[in-house]
Amino acid sequence: MTVGEALELATRRLAEAGVEAARLDARLLLASVAGMSATAVLRDPERVLSIDAEAAFGRLVERRCRREPVSRILGRREFWSLDFAVSLATLDPRPDSETVVEAALARFAPEPPRRVLDLGSGSGCLLLAVLSERPGWTGLGIDIAPDAVAVARANARTLGLDARARFQAGDWDQGLVGPFDLILSNPPYIPSREVAGLAPEVSLFEPRRALDGGSDGLDAYRALAPAAARLLAPRGCAVLELGGGQIGAVAALMATAGLAEIERRRDLAGIERCLVLGRSGS
Ligand SMILES: C[S@@+](CC[C@H](N)C(=O)[O-])C[C@H]1O[C@@H](n2cnc3c(N)ncnc32)[C@H](O)[C@@H]1O
Repeated sequence: MTVGEALELATRRLAEAGVEAARLDARLLLASVAGMSATAVLRDPERVLSIDAEAAFGRLVERRCRREPVSRILGRREFWSLDFAVSLATLDPRPDSETVVEAALARFAPEPPRRVLDLGSGSGCLLLAVLSERPGWTGLGIDIAPDAVAVARANARTLGLDARARFQAGDWDQGLVGPFDLILSNPPYIPSREVAGLAPEVSLFEPRRALDGGSDGLDAYRALAPAAARLLAPRGCAVLELGGGQIGAVAALMATAGLAEIERRRDLAGIERCLVLGRSGS
C-alpha cells in the first residue's frame, strides 16, 4: 500500500469512529510509523509502506478509533514550542495553559534570577516553559503522582533544564519552605459530576486526579490559597489556571487568604483562563 492510500483509508476509518480531526490525526500516526515528517506524508504519497509499517499503522489507527489521543499514542505533545513526553500519569499539556506561561513571563523582567514553584506540575510543562525563557531562574515542581514526577524529570533532562528544575512528589505545599517569587498552578478544576461527560479522549485517558476538582471544582484552590499565601515572597505573584466561569469564585477564595487579584487573562477562545495574584497591600 502507498502512503497516500494508507492516509485515505485511515482518514475514512477515523472519521467513521467520530474522530474530529481525522485526516490530521491519520497523517501524524502515519508519519510516526513510516519514519517521515508529517509534511513528507503529503509530499510523497507514492512511497510504498513496508508490510511492518502498514501493520503498525493499522494498530495505531485502531487505538485512535477507541479515542485514545494521538499524543498518548505517540507519547509526545508540543507545548510552548517545546517537545514534552507524556504518559498515562500526566495530563496532556493544553494550548490554553500557555496563557499561564505568558502571564508569568510578563510579570517579571529576566533579571534578577527568580525562584519558581509549580504546584501540580504533571509533565512539567509550565515550569519548564518558563525556565526555557529565563536562563537565570530556577524552579521546583511538585506533584502528588510519583509517575508524573518521573516524566517531568525526564522532560527537564531532554530540554537541558535539569540543572535548574527539580521535581519531587508531594501533596501541594506540604513540607515546602519558601519564599518563591513566582508560584504557578494548573490544578484539577472540573466538578466531579462533569468528568464522565467530557470527551472520551479526556474522560477515558487523562488521569482522574488531574481533572477532578471535587463537587464544585474548587477543592484544589481551597488548598492552594493558604499554600500560596504562606510561600509567596513579599513582591511575588501567583499565576493560576482555572476553568470557564470559575474566576470570580477563585479570586474570592484567594482574597480570604490575603491574596489580591492583579490581572485576569483570557485564553485563545476568549475564556477567562488565568488569574494573577499578589499579596494584598504589596
Ligand atoms: C490539571 S493537571 C496539570 C498538570 C500540568 N501542570 C499541566 O498544566 O499540564 C493537575 C496536576 O495536579 C496534580 N495533583 C492533584 N492533586 C495534587 C495534590 N494534592 N498535590 C500535588 N499535586 C496534585 C495531578 O497529579 C496533576 O498532575
